[in-house]
Amino acid sequence: MPGLVIEHLSKTLGGRLVVEDLSLRVEPGELVCLLGPSGCGKTTTLRMIGGFIPPDGGSISIDGVDVSGVPPERRPTAMVFQSYALWPHMSVFKNVAYGLKLRRLPKPEIERRVEAMLALVNLSDKGARRPAQLSGGEQQRVALARALVLEPSLLLLDEPLSNLDAKLRVGVREEIREIQQRLGIATVFVTHDQDEALAISDRVAVMSGGRIEQFDEPAALYRRPATTFVAGFIGAMSMFEGAVGSDGVRLGQAVQVPFAAPIPVAAAMGGGAAEGWTIGVRPEDVLVKPARPGGRSRATARVLKQIPHGHYRELVLGLDGLEDTRLRAFVAADAPLGDHLEVSIARALLYHEGRLAHEVCGQDRVRVDARAAVATP
Ligand SMILES: Nc1ncnc2c1ncn2[C@@H]1O[C@H](COP(=O)(O)OP(=O)(O)O)[C@@H](O)[C@H]1O
Ligand SMILES: [Mg+2]
Repeated sequence: MPGLVIEHLSKTLGGRLVVEDLSLRVEPGELVCLLGPSGCGKTTTLRMIGGFIPPDGGSISIDGVDVSGVPPERRPTAMVFQSYALWPHMSVFKNVAYGLKLRRLPKPEIERRVEAMLALVNLSDKGARRPAQLSGGEQQRVALARALVLEPSLLLLDEPLSNLDAKLRVGVREEIREIQQRLGIATVFVTHDQDEALAISDRVAVMSGGRIEQFDEPAALYRRPATTFVAGFIGAMSMFEGAVGSDGVRLGQAVQVPFAAPIPVAAAMGGGAAEGWTIGVRPEDVLVKPARPGGRSRATARVLKQIPHGHYRELVLGLDGLEDTRLRAFVAADAPLGDHLEVSIARALLYHEGRLAHEVCGQDRVRVDARAAVATP
């Protein structure tokens, strides 16, 4: 079985179960992110894959070989750490060559492989420098080259970009993704940054409390978060307790918010119960227009806050008749809307006991590009 196969992995640290019955598969050439809040067990999982800490239970195999009991240096893995962990007294070239020297490769081969790797990470002209003479992004590329020069079959990266400023982080993550794809190397990338995970992954494993909540492609993760935890963690999602009917959802006890277009709810739900749902609504699925004075629209809301995001803006709405509601909506940056709005929704996700049960939306995608189709008065 090629690639990485993890089955029922567990680890207790300091008397606490920090990785719990974790199973995961990474195909050859695939980049998988472990994504989750600080303390959810990402680093512990990665260190078990690399062989730095032994699991209490479960198995890890790489390219069909069970690696239990195999020390890190004999595993077909290479790790890039958050801190880079470069040797400060060695040149860039020697840093990258280090692992090959330990393997006692002939000198000409070491030179050839190091030079090829420095070219790959765009540092051919920096081989003689010390790490301290490089920028943060360049240091990170040295760390990447040092890992890749060993020609591992699995690359492990633990928050490799967290020491870089925001702008550089985006550039370096794109470089890492490009190199990873060019080499076709299976990669496990740990991050707590959802943007980063969604941008570079083939698939993302969202973790919470030592467990995987959902393992899916980025688009699916965003569109259909499998649990309320994932729904809250990935992107913005407004959540309410309520009920659903053919013409809209009822939030709380009283406020009915209509669907923007007819939705065959009964069919979508197979005649399931109308009551007792946790209802999730993405901001791009909320449509707004100015409330008509004296109009009889069923759902109106006050604009409580406006957050500019460049070409669009985010509204935080409080629904009339439902204290404490916070419904988020995206609208065009310059849409002249006023502060009392009529609200409808194009799509809702229904959760029961924390798990996604139904996606309620029109037969056709009601709105293909939410931001382009923002309702204007
Ligand atoms: N050596 C250790 N001893 C005790 N607890 C630990 C140790 N290492 C990590 N932990 C705990 O295990 C949990 C998971 O840690 P970690 O895998 O580093 O999380 P993450 O990388 O997702 O932030 C945390 O609650 C952390 O405090
Ligand atoms: Mg960590």
